[in-house]
Amino acid sequence: MIVEVRGLCHRYRRNSGDIAVLENVDFTLEQGEFVAIMGASGSGKSTFLHILGCLLKPVSGSYRLNGEEIADLEEKRLSEIRAHHIGHVFQMFYLLPGVDVSRNVSLPLMYGNVEEKEVQRRVLKAIHQVGLEDRISHKPTELSGGEMQRVAIARVLAQNPELILADEPTGNLDKNNSNEILGLFRRMNQQGHTIILVTHDAEVAGYAQKQMILDNGTFSRA
Ligand SMILES: Nc1ncnc2c1ncn2[C@@H]1O[C@H](COP(=O)(O)OP(=O)(O)OP(=O)(O)O)[C@@H](O)[C@H]1O
Ligand SMILES: [Mg+2]
Repeated sequence: MIVEVRGLCHRYRRNSGDIAVLENVDFTLEQGEFVAIMGASGSGKSTFLHILGCLLKPVSGSYRLNGEEIADLEEKRLSEIRAHHIGHVFQMFYLLPGVDVSRNVSLPLMYGNVEEKEVQRRVLKAIHQVGLEDRISHKPTELSGGEMQRVAIARVLAQNPELILADEPTGNLDKNNSNEILGLFRRMNQQGHTIILVTHDAEVAGYAQKQMILDNGTFSRA
């Protein structure tokens, strides 16, 4: 079992009062599963992915990844996990503004011990897979929203992590590009990658084997 969440709670603290987001969430995912998470805007989907991505500590509850209790880990181990085991396609992309497409795609590989030649090979392949060869030397400000989204996806393809967390990865794409990208995710899943995909689109969710809905702080099967 790769992801195991038990009794997880999260709330954001603000001066104007706490915002309760996740309430006693149980969620498990086996190795190689592909699940879609749906739910209203503001229901806590991105918050949940940030927790799974080890970027945000929940207020309480347990999150075990490959058997390791994340709350018990030190920052060094957490950054190892983020670099080697988890790929995150962020809802807001989070591309590095000062560097070009190829550098942005290679970023997660900079923390590993992948040889330079292999880095180049993976980066070019990923950029080709998302159809951005002719934008390879562009900086993020020189790209459209959908192109930025595809760079964010290429970054995860090049990283090739065990667990992929994709937050609305096709939200800015037209139908053709969206289908291409979802096909790439499906292929990665067939190769054994575990995928969690957040979407508002039931058709997109249909690419996953299992659909979950986040509502009122907790999950149910769609
Ligand atoms: N850093 C923060 N501080 C305070 N409140 C926050 C913070 N981040 C998110 N929230 C609030 O927590 C709730 C859940 O936010 P989240 O981004 O997880 O929702 P979401 O389901 O991803 O929504 P969307 O579909 O619009 O992306 C929202 O009501 C939001 O306003
Ligand atoms: Mg969100």
